[in-house]
Amino acid sequence: MKDAINEDKLSGIIEKYKDNPNATVAILQDIQEEYNYLPREAMTKVSKEFNIPLSRLLSVATFYSAFSLTPKGKHQINICLGTACHVRGGARIMNKVERELGIKRGETTEDLRFSLDEVRCLGCCGLAPVMVVGEDVHGKLSEDKVMSILEKYK
Ligand code: FES
Repeated sequence: MKDAINEDKLSGIIEKYKDNPNATVAILQDIQEEYNYLPREAMTKVSKEFNIPLSRLLSVATFYSAFSLTPKGKHQINICLGTACHVRGGARIMNKVERELGIKRGETTEDLRFSLDEVRCLGCCGLAPVMVVGEDVHGKLSEDKVMSILEKYK
């Protein structure tokens, strides 16, 4: 797990908002973008520098689903379990990926390569069952194909 954070990058974000301490959400967005989650160390520093109670930062962080307080994988996998995908075996695809990666939906692999979640209809039901990795849409999946697709994401 990655614990130490890049101090220079954090200092840059703090500097950027030093005259605009009310931009809590924007500050957290920049941190999330930089580290792919909101490291506790960064939250503590922002709390001190901007004199914002840590409890307030945490409540903002938990209110918005775009924020994560735990490390996220380099590649986000979203497997569709909407009706069309479900009918065409989406749950089997999900089970296969969970089994092979050794994580459940909502979790991240130990090596921080993948985070896995389920979604409800990606708007391309004709390709069911569908999985999105990062920005890439993979359709007409089968249990046989899915792991060879994921192997391409290093
Ligand atoms: S149900 Fe999966 S894309 Fe619509």
